Amino acid sequence: MIVFFSGTNNSAFVARSLANLLGDECVPVFSRSLCNDKPIVFVCPTYCWRIPRFFSRLIRKARLIVPKQAYFVQTCGSEIGNSAHCNRKLCISAGLDYKGTAAVLMPENYIAMYDSPSLEEAHRIVERSKPAIIDIANRISKGLVLKDERPTLWFRFLSGPVNPLFYFFFVRDKAFWTTDACVSCTHCQKVCPMKNISMEEGRPAWHGKCVSCMACIASCPKKAIEYGKKSKGRTRYFNYEDPIRRV
Ligand SMILES: Cc1cc2nc3c(=O)[nH]c(=O)nc-3n(C[C@H](O)[C@H](O)[C@H](O)COP(=O)(O)O)c2cc1C
Repeated sequence: MIVFFSGTNNSAFVARSLANLLGDECVPVFSRSLCNDKPIVFVCPTYCWRIPRFFSRLIRKARLIVPKQAYFVQTCGSEIGNSAHCNRKLCISAGLDYKGTAAVLMPENYIAMYDSPSLEEAHRIVERSKPAIIDIANRISKGLVLKDERPTLWFRFLSGPVNPLFYFFFVRDKAFWTTDACVSCTHCQKVCPMKNISMEEGRPAWHGKCVSCMACIASCPKKAIEYGKKSKGRTRYFNYEDPIRRV
């Protein structure tokens, strides 16, 4: 079973591709309990060199009666740091049998901090990711482990002490605001996976449960959402590509 979380659809694209290639079902993380007899493949973005914090909390809370094999597939804009080590530890506390972590390089979506690639470049990055996704599916279908990357001291530092600092300073929704281009269409409210947005006097209001997934700002049809001044003029990236199909 593929269980995924995705803000701007990169991880949804990978999850749906894996589901097609493996002939398995694919469910968003909030939808229901983890209950078929196949290994679980967790697919999600990388946030500050680890899987998103709320996602690991959900996995830990889901404690399964029968230990299940668990694979991790993390999409990232550049690297996943020492995520494999963190995922292995998470599996121990969640009663899961750890089967490895794979990184899939996808377009950067974090426009509150970095530039996203142009649409053409983003398409090329997604095309280049396909052999890696097919290879991951092949390994999972054969019951093989996904080979963890070797942790460097730098990556241990990033996934270790830097990660909580990043959450403390940057993962917040106070900086979101809307320009006069907002037409009260409620798209941001519908697309927010954390159900953190409501409409107040025709404008979106964020309520503090944000995980900085960028879904609202990246998919606003009017480009009416900004993040402080940092997002001004930056390309909004959202993945609309068709998942890989089994031939
Ligand atoms: C809050 C935040 C933190 C991120 N941290 C990292 C990171 O540590 N390393 C990295 O390579 N990419 C990082 N990214 C980029 C995303 O992991 C990447 O674009 C991912 O594919 C987005 O997946 P999604 O479209 O499924 O949400 C970050 C993105 C966000 C929004």
